[in-house]
Amino acid sequence: MRWPVDHRLETRLDLPRRMRRSRKAEWARRLVRENSLSTADLIWPIFICEGEGHSEPIPTMPGVMRHSIDHAVNEAKEAATLGIPALALFPNTPITLRDEMGSEALNPENLICRAIRAIKEAVPDIGIITDVALDPYTSHGHDGLVANGQVLNDESVAVLVKQALVQAQAGADVIAPSDMMDGRVGAIREALDAAGFHDVSIMAYAAKYASAFYGPFRDAVGASSTLKGDKKTYQMDPANAAEALREVELDLAEGADYVMVKPGLPYLDIVTRVKDQFGVPTFAYQVSGEYAMIMAAAERGMLDADKAMLETLLAFKRAGCDGILTYFAPRAARLLKAMG
Ligand code: PBG
Repeated sequence: MRWPVDHRLETRLDLPRRMRRSRKAEWARRLVRENSLSTADLIWPIFICEGEGHSEPIPTMPGVMRHSIDHAVNEAKEAATLGIPALALFPNTPITLRDEMGSEALNPENLICRAIRAIKEAVPDIGIITDVALDPYTSHGHDGLVANGQVLNDESVAVLVKQALVQAQAGADVIAPSDMMDGRVGAIREALDAAGFHDVSIMAYAAKYASAFYGPFRDAVGASSTLKGDKKTYQMDPANAAEALREVELDLAEGADYVMVKPGLPYLDIVTRVKDQFGVPTFAYQVSGEYAMIMAAAERGMLDADKAMLETLLAFKRAGCDGILTYFAPRAARLLKAMG
């Protein structure tokens, strides 16, 4: 809302505007604070690996581990205790199970499906979001099928639909296609409805950019060494903003319940435009490289990890996010709890 400004008043020297008055003490700052971060805003991405009683560090993501399913269940319990609403699961598929077609993605007994069932049984009240894309399952590391060096669209969508159904059957609450094939949201929605999964939601990676900030994630799911080439024929050009709005519009028309912008911090302008234009539940993914930057700087004593983390998460809220996918989720939740 805009109030008429009386410029004569503003220029009177005996009445200077004193913006600092509302910053003079913590109580005063709290009174005028426009945005806030709460645990309810956090989605925690977790990496799953084979084995039992096993957790292994990811060198490019200090403080983040891959967990065997039993350990992931413990993490889910911890998340529930902290009040984190939902987890996003990503598999590190054993290299021997990866092939040209990403067939393991369709195996109802794959790592992700077993993890969904185990977490649902132990922690029924936490939301489970699963990733639809083939890159953790393919020998070439692409999110779809490849022929003659091209990533195929419609043939990939057919497989992604099956992958989504397998995840829904295992108990996933939210299907999150991160593949950026055209038409996949509509195809997945149709197939879910036809199979009776009306209540399974779709969180579309609607504006997902071809970004250098995914590097550590590719290490985490073991796709760095497999990936041949880049993803620029399907992920968006970082130079484009209007195109992001078209992507979001299409995914909404195809039935997306939530839309996501990814990466996060370098793309907050996109978040704001999406939220302003569509007013739908809008999420952003603070991706692995964003996490790694803060942690690496903190490890070298260059900045305070907790303060930097909370500041970035609040910035997502200010930009218009309803929630943030972040590897900082448990750390932020613990801090928020301690701060009351
Ligand atoms: C792939 C996928 C990626 C991420 C989530 N899903 C990487 C990519 O597109 O190569 C990145 C997440 C992160 O960097 O934290 N389907």
